Amino acid sequence: MRGLESSSKGLGSTSLRVKLKPHLVIYGGNVARVKMAVIGCGFISTSVHLPSLTEIPDVEVVAVCDVVEEKARKTAEQFKVEKYYTDYHKVLEMPEVDAVLIATPPLTHKDQVINAARAGKHVFVEKPITTNVKDAKEVVDAIKKAGVKCMVGFCLRFHSMFKHVKELIDSGRLGRPVNIWRVCVWPLPPAPWLKDKTISGGMLVENAVHAFDAFRWFAGDVDTVYAKVMTVQSGITIEDNASVVCIHKEGTISTLIQSWSGTHSWDSWGVVGEKGTVAVEGYLSGVMKIRIADGPYEQLRMEEDWKLMYKRELEYFIKCIIEDKRPEINEVEGLRALEIAEAALRSSAEGRPIKLPLE
Ligand SMILES: NC(=O)c1ccc[n+]([C@@H]2O[C@H](COP(=O)([O-])OP(=O)(O)OC[C@H]3O[C@@H](n4cnc5c(N)ncnc54)[C@H](O)[C@@H]3O)[C@@H](O)[C@H]2O)c1
Repeated sequence: MRGLESSSKGLGSTSLRVKLKPHLVIYGGNVARVKMAVIGCGFISTSVHLPSLTEIPDVEVVAVCDVVEEKARKTAEQFKVEKYYTDYHKVLEMPEVDAVLIATPPLTHKDQVINAARAGKHVFVEKPITTNVKDAKEVVDAIKKAGVKCMVGFCLRFHSMFKHVKELIDSGRLGRPVNIWRVCVWPLPPAPWLKDKTISGGMLVENAVHAFDAFRWFAGDVDTVYAKVMTVQSGITIEDNASVVCIHKEGTISTLIQSWSGTHSWDSWGVVGEKGTVAVEGYLSGVMKIRIADGPYEQLRMEEDWKLMYKRELEYFIKCIIEDKRPEINEVEGLRALEIAEAALRSSAEGRPIKLPLE
């Protein structure tokens, strides 16, 4: 990446101050290794999570699991993992497993997270935490009761462009955020389960939660949601177009315009603050234009490898386990982002603004 220094303050650092936990094995005298199992051997696990885990010295993957045996076996072979299973309950029965990474379609998240927590395993669950708020609240209760750590895969918080904007806000340089936006025009993604609302939760629940989490990260809790969603393509049960306006408690307006019926992809996001503006033409790479008050006008071409944010989020999760810290991006953060998605769907269906938190 050019133009920006990648900050790793606290997050993403691999040099760990180790506070040893009784269940962690000591290797080489001073580093505790977390033993982890990966549930779901599909796109995100095999393309980013498992490659990242093999590069992080403080973790060892001891089992993988997929309902499709061939996928489980091939993944175990590819990543040199000793055990593979087709039933995730078997993974939870392994006493040596400290933590599980859940990367299955969203419908399965609720039971998998709750059962993992009850088995005493720490949980990294891919977004969305569940497909609906009612289930997410059950997950929050189960995590609290079990006293395990839970992190939700909001990887944008580990991307240098998003981290840079957060630092501009937190340092006061940008001023209070006034107007935040994300425009996302994509063709319909190919995975069949994504098009089935009962499995994915829909475009807002499965995908826009990333934007809703970023809105909250930049501007705090949301108070009211206004939205209109539509489905224009046939053969799908999800919304494929949406406009969502969030009014934050502190007054910021955040707007998402999202389409999954585009003929090509186009992305933009940014923040107008009281003192400055950041506008990004692109999503995870592209041109970032920044001007603070009447200072110099910066134009940065950002080209960070998109896989790095996933490695950083797992480094952070492992660090939280080793240092016995609650992840900042925990189950409650997962619930709050999901609440915005569900409020948007309700607002559209009922034709009225919806107040948060949802009952
Ligand atoms: N953070 C991100 O940027 C990002 C990107 C892509 C996907 N995701 C999320 O990751 C999750 C997985 O997405 P994906 O694209 O890898 O999907 P995928 O369909 O490629 O992989 C899912 C895998 O889970 C397996 N599976 C299904 N039910 C299972 C069960 N009960 N037990 C064990 N395995 C089971 C499937 O056979 C499949 O191999 C979803 O929640 C998705 O929203 C996140």
